[in-house]
Amino acid sequence: MRTPLVMGNWKLNGTKDSVTALVNGLIEPAKAATNVQTAICPPVVFLGQVEALVGDAPIAYGAQDASVNTSGAFTGENSPVMLKEFGCTYNLVGHSERRQYHNETDAVVAAKFKAIQENQLVPVLCIGETLEENEAGKTEAVVETQLKAVIDLCGVEALENAVIAYEPVWAIGTGKSATSEQAQAIHAHIRGWLAAQSATVAEKVQILYGGSVKAATAKELFSQADIDGALVGGASLMAEEFGAIIAAA
Ligand code: G3P
Repeated sequence: MRTPLVMGNWKLNGTKDSVTALVNGLIEPAKAATNVQTAICPPVVFLGQVEALVGDAPIAYGAQDASVNTSGAFTGENSPVMLKEFGCTYNLVGHSERRQYHNETDAVVAAKFKAIQENQLVPVLCIGETLEENEAGKTEAVVETQLKAVIDLCGVEALENAVIAYEPVWAIGTGKSATSEQAQAIHAHIRGWLAAQSATVAEKVQILYGGSVKAATAKELFSQADIDGALVGGASLMAEEFGAIIAAA
């Protein structure tokens, strides 16, 4: 069976003091949840601090984006090689905020996925539909297109060493989570669609749900057969709340 993964995406939040308090506050909940993988994605400027604070505690971490380039004249970018050197395990790619505010197309996301994986980081591929697409009944087509871009470039086997995060855009930061039934339905669809290409990949890949996950809703979400954990935004900035989500997994 797949091990649950609970990952916090801090987005553009944090101070040196809040990072220290938050990581210290997560060490005990992470240790207590022996059958759960805990991970955090801080802004890259805090990675060195997070590396030192985490020490040998069972908290993995990663960046929220990465360059397709490993070094050179690319002002403002962060190389996957450098991220690896800071002890990162994971790397988010294709978050809807990157797609929306930084014009990341499916092709750009696929290229970043490839660069992340080639540098021994585990890509966490974020996919999901907008409200408009949802209301037009296009959810399945949208996530298939987003997945296909990566599969076309990297092959379906690449998803064996990756994580998928289904995050409906209309549920992100809105307080309006998908119901556990809605989320399970699309997760099952994604897994079935993958199974048609590779049963092994479909069985192995962790599919996380993201979008207004809170401690109060986590247990119900995690009880669904195809929901293997969560990618948590706002609630991951509070140690007690995120600790409770880890415990719910
Ligand atoms: O990547 C996590 C995310 O986009 C969900 O954010 O604040 O709705 O939990 P939030």
